[in-house]
Amino acid sequence: MKTARHKRSPGAAPARELVELRLRLTEAEETLHAIRNGEVDAVVVPGKQGDQVFTLQGAEHAYRVLIESMNEGALTLTTEKMILYANQCFARMVKCPLEQVMGSSFRRFLSAEDRATLRPLLKRADKIGTKIQALLIAADGSRIPAQISIRSQDRNGYNRATIAVVVTDMTESRRTEELLRALTHRVVQVQEAERERVAFELHDNITQLLCAVVFRSQTLVDALPARDGPSRKKAQKLRDMLGQIADEVVRISHNLGPGLLDDLGLVAVLREAKTEFADRTGVSVKLACMQLTARLPADTELAIYRILQEALRNVEKHANARHVTVRLRQQGAFIQLVINDDGVGFDADHPSARRKETGGLGLLSMRERANYVGGTLKIKSVCKAGTEIEALIPMKVRHRRGP
Ligand SMILES: Nc1ncnc2c1ncn2[C@@H]1O[C@H](COP(=O)(O)OP(=O)(O)OP(=O)(O)O)[C@@H](O)[C@H]1O
Ligand SMILES: [Mg+2]
Repeated sequence: MKTARHKRSPGAAPARELVELRLRLTEAEETLHAIRNGEVDAVVVPGKQGDQVFTLQGAEHAYRVLIESMNEGALTLTTEKMILYANQCFARMVKCPLEQVMGSSFRRFLSAEDRATLRPLLKRADKIGTKIQALLIAADGSRIPAQISIRSQDRNGYNRATIAVVVTDMTESRRTEELLRALTHRVVQVQEAERERVAFELHDNITQLLCAVVFRSQTLVDALPARDGPSRKKAQKLRDMLGQIADEVVRISHNLGPGLLDDLGLVAVLREAKTEFADRTGVSVKLACMQLTARLPADTELAIYRILQEALRNVEKHANARHVTVRLRQQGAFIQLVINDDGVGFDADHPSARRKETGGLGLLSMRERANYVGGTLKIKSVCKAGTEIEALIPMKVRHRRGP
C-alpha cells in the first residue's frame, strides 16, 4: 500500500536534519512516482489533531482503470476542499501535472464567483448530488466551461467523509449550442425576410387584382336587369365571396409583414391581432396592455408582436382552449408579455413528445426572438390545465431618426 504524505512539519533536531531531508526526498520521489502511476491508496493530511489518513475508496485496479478511462474529470475532496484524488483527465483539463493537482485545493481551479457559489454546495453535499455550471481556471489561466457534479461519500471505517466530484468539460457542447443559436437566428431572419417578401407581393399584386375583380363583379351585378332575379342573386353571391377573399388576403398580408406595426404602433397591432384571433376562432381573448409613452425599438416591437402571433397560432393549433389572456406591462427595467390559455397543456421539457414529431419551429423561434433583443422566454405548461408563455425583454426607448 502506497501512502502520500502532505506537508509534514520540519524535523526539530539539527543533527538529524540532513538524514531527515534525504529520507523525505526519497519519500517525495516515491510518492510522485506512485501518484503518476495511480498507485496511491491513502493520503495523510496533517491537521490540528495530528495526521489524518484518508484511504481512497475503491482503490482496486478495476476501479482505477474505469476512472482513468472516463472522459470526465473525477475527483475526491476532503470537506476542506483539498483534492485527495484526481484522474488524469482532470489534470489534462486544468493543464496541470497530476502530482500538482493532488493535494492542492480544488478552489484554485475555480473563479472567485464560482468559489462562492460552490462553497455552500460543497458544505451541504448529500448523496443525491447537485450539478452546477461553472468556469474552471486552468493552470495557464485559460477558462473552461464545465459542469460540476457534487455528491457526498459516506464515512467508511476509519475513512473521513469525502466529496466525490465529476467535472464535465462543456467546451464542445457550448460551441454546439452557440452554433445552434446562430442557426436558429438565421432561420428566424430568413423567415422574416420571406414573410416580408410574400406580404409585399400579396399587398401590391394580389390585393390590387382582387380589388379590381371585386369592382368589376359589382359592375356586372349592377348591369344585370332586375327582372333576372336568380342570375343577379348568383352574381351578387360571387361578388361577396370575392370580397371575402380580398379581405382574407389583406389579413394574411398584414399578419405576415411588419408594415402595420410601423404605422400603428405596438399596442394597436396587439389589439388588432387579438380581435382578429377572437373573431376568427371564437376563443375569448382578454388583452390588458399598458399604454406606452414612447415607441420601443423596432426590433423589440417586432419581437413582441411575433411572439404573440406565434403563441396565438399555437393556441389555435394545439390548445383547444376556451379563454386566453394576454398582458403587456412594465416590470422594473423590463417589458413583460404573458400569454395564458386554459387549454390541454403539454410537457414543456419535451414539447413534441405527445405527437411523436421531430418538433416544430414555433417555440424555438419565440425564444430566439426574445433572446435576440436581450430578453428571455419562459414556458410553463400543465397537462389539462393550460399554458403560460412569458417573455421578459429589457425596456429601451426607440431613438428618434435624425431630421
Ligand atoms: N398553447 C399550447 N397548448 C398545447 N400544446 C402546445 C401549445 N403550444 C405548443 N404546444 C405543443 O408544443 C409543440 C411545439 O410547438 P411549436 O410551436 O414549437 O411547433 P408546432 O406548432 O408543432 O409547429 P410550427 O410552430 O413550426 O408550425 C406543439 O406540437 C404542441 O404539442
Ligand atoms: Mg407552433
